Amino acid sequence: MKILLIGSGGREHALAWKMAQSDAVSELVAAPGNIGIAKEPKCRVVRVSADDIKGLLELVRLEKPDLTVVGPEAPLVAGLADVFTQNGFSVFGPSAAAALLEGSKVFAKELMKKYEIPSAEFEVFNDYYEAARYVEAAKFPLVVKADGLAAGKGVFVCERREGALEALEQIMIRKVFGIAGQKVIIEDCLEGEEASFIAFTDGVTVIPLASSQDHKAIFDNDKGPNTGGMGAYSPAPVVTPLMHEKIMNKIMLPTIKAMAAEGRPYVGFLYAGIMIHEDNPKVLEFNVRLGDPEAQPLLVRMNTDPIPLMISALTGNLGKETINWNEDASVCVVMASQGYPGTYVKGNIITGLEEAEKVPGVKVFIAGADNSLGGVITSGGRVLGVTSLAKNIPDAIQKAYEGVERIKWEGVHFRRDIGEKALHRA
Ligand code: AMP
Ligand code: GLY
Repeated sequence: MKILLIGSGGREHALAWKMAQSDAVSELVAAPGNIGIAKEPKCRVVRVSADDIKGLLELVRLEKPDLTVVGPEAPLVAGLADVFTQNGFSVFGPSAAAALLEGSKVFAKELMKKYEIPSAEFEVFNDYYEAARYVEAAKFPLVVKADGLAAGKGVFVCERREGALEALEQIMIRKVFGIAGQKVIIEDCLEGEEASFIAFTDGVTVIPLASSQDHKAIFDNDKGPNTGGMGAYSPAPVVTPLMHEKIMNKIMLPTIKAMAAEGRPYVGFLYAGIMIHEDNPKVLEFNVRLGDPEAQPLLVRMNTDPIPLMISALTGNLGKETINWNEDASVCVVMASQGYPGTYVKGNIITGLEEAEKVPGVKVFIAGADNSLGGVITSGGRVLGVTSLAKNIPDAIQKAYEGVERIKWEGVHFRRDIGEKALHRA
């Protein structure tokens, strides 16, 4: 069968790499894809942007894929799955009505409140002065969030009043996130350790992926501003078997039931960002897709072909499926451009990609790199993910960094502590 894959990041390279290994797949077209995807067997890329719904509709009519898989959230929130379905094409990913779970944090918080899904206490504001008055009287720390999509930048964890007022001004007065900031949430700051809990769902059955953990902050020891994610590993020992059961029973299954009850049946990947404190999981946010970089270690560990799982999800048959996981551990270290997550430099020549992949068990997933006359150059904030597979987390960390050391460009930045939280729990 022929697959159309939407997106261009490390997550999509990992998906393309994994799906291309399926015996069921004869051809994979990625829009817009990247140079890493273009080099995978059976894969080719076409220059249609993931946000260009009209262009993608033309593309799907031309290519006639048997299945479309959507990587990022923006096209899902914009209704890509609805448009494709209405035109007779199968797509794995939620409808716009269901993708509101990520598209509006206010919607997600109100849903959780109504269905008693554990999450931080919150208030919603659509007026700057009311929000500022609330902040004047509030206890700190607290968290200010823009309602809509903000590419991971719309969340401010504020230790002090000035920071919260500054966040409100950015979101509601200067409107740096546009209409995504028409409403804000101000919520209690949760303490604990974070984990990413991601599952396949057909709207009734939830089949979880293995546990994983992201590293959101730009610098070691979780310092500095949040990014899309600077590295991830799987499995994450913070998600014990008991915690897994709690997350399934208190969060994942109730959320899928709630979405169905609200007339927004949810089919696709569902990602819950979880804060775990004293054996209690609470939802930080929902995403309507695989995490990036979490997808990289997860797909490296996944022994089961994901294509039949997606097809079963689309036909409501996930109940008969199981996923087998490699017992080995995987660690992904993201290498980023100087300046990321702020404005960053592009066009630096990258060396050592092939040498890195010579480290046994190491795969390099491309996120923001391109070909040029001088060789491979940086073209994004997160440039690539060096992802390893080894018998345990310490070995996987060592292998991933062995790969990282072989890759160079001017101004490269990466964290040196990816996976350390797992070592503290071992
Ligand atoms: P979100 O995009 O909502 O997951 O937020 C991004 C990051 O901000 C999360 O991964 C957490 O590190 C942090 N965060 C969000 N909400 C809270 C909260 N209520 N308490 C503490 N940290 C939070
Ligand atoms: N790595 C976090 C995310 O994909 O949202």
